[in-house]
Amino acid sequence: MINLLEVEGLGVRFAGLDALKDVSLNLAPGQILAVIGPNGAGKTTLFNAISGYVRPSTGQVRLKGHDVAGASPHEIARHGIRRTFQNGGLFPALTVLENVLTGLHAQTGGNFLDVLLGRRRALESEREMIARARKLLSLMQMEKMADMRAADLSGGQQRIVEIVRTVASDPPILLLDEPAVGLSPLARDQMMEIIHRMAGEKGVGILLIEHAVELVMAGADRILVMAAGQRIAEGTPQEIREDRAVLEAYLGHA
Ligand SMILES: Nc1ncnc2c1ncn2[C@@H]1O[C@H](COP(=O)(O)OP(=O)(O)O)[C@@H](O)[C@H]1O
Ligand SMILES: [Mg+2]
Repeated sequence: MINLLEVEGLGVRFAGLDALKDVSLNLAPGQILAVIGPNGAGKTTLFNAISGYVRPSTGQVRLKGHDVAGASPHEIARHGIRRTFQNGGLFPALTVLENVLTGLHAQTGGNFLDVLLGRRRALESEREMIARARKLLSLMQMEKMADMRAADLSGGQQRIVEIVRTVASDPPILLLDEPAVGLSPLARDQMMEIIHRMAGEKGVGILLIEHAVELVMAGADRILVMAAGQRIAEGTPQEIREDRAVLEAYLGHA
């Protein structure tokens, strides 16, 4: 099977420090690959280097066969990658619905100017997009909040909206950076269900940074364990559970 994403020997140096060193991974369609590791392990830096937010100092990133290492976030997004940010990235003054629409506009290339100018096709596609955004929100029981300002939501609700916005365009590759932080157990389960649906029904390849080890043990196909910028193990949840290096370096006992 052709990989959606291939990362080879990826490294990032910040002021002489290896935040990421020689990390490789492959992501196939429909696969959920979790990335775990203690704070400072380089998980977010890995996402930043893949999605163009930091420039890798070494290594290769291939999206559907296209070499994108060092390209801008915008160019990389054009190859079908979407990501969330650890600390959220909503537009606080926009409504929930408008925030989700920005995720759809990013995909279709439609823009607000066309809508403002009243171009008919733009207005029709705008209506379709609004219907689609509302449907996605209702899947997460967020429909009633569609017209609230993002800033007025709780932290957990904001995370959900961010995820809805990120998945709205049906991207082939999703990078989710600790999406469950601040969610209630119920919202966390709903979020995992959406993630599974994206992978299982739509064949989306998903890289998931997650702190809650039990969540990834139950929900990921494979797990990449990082510490101090490096990969210390990779395998199925079962293999990771039994890996000595993981037990020693990450879970703190052997
Ligand atoms: N923009 C940056 N400039 C300098 N150092 C950074 C930057 N981003 C991350 N780091 C450092 O890189 C290391 C890995 O950080 P990060 O990728 O955020 O880890 P994680 O997401 O696993 O907690 C840390 O030591 C962090 O301080
Ligand atoms: Mg992080």
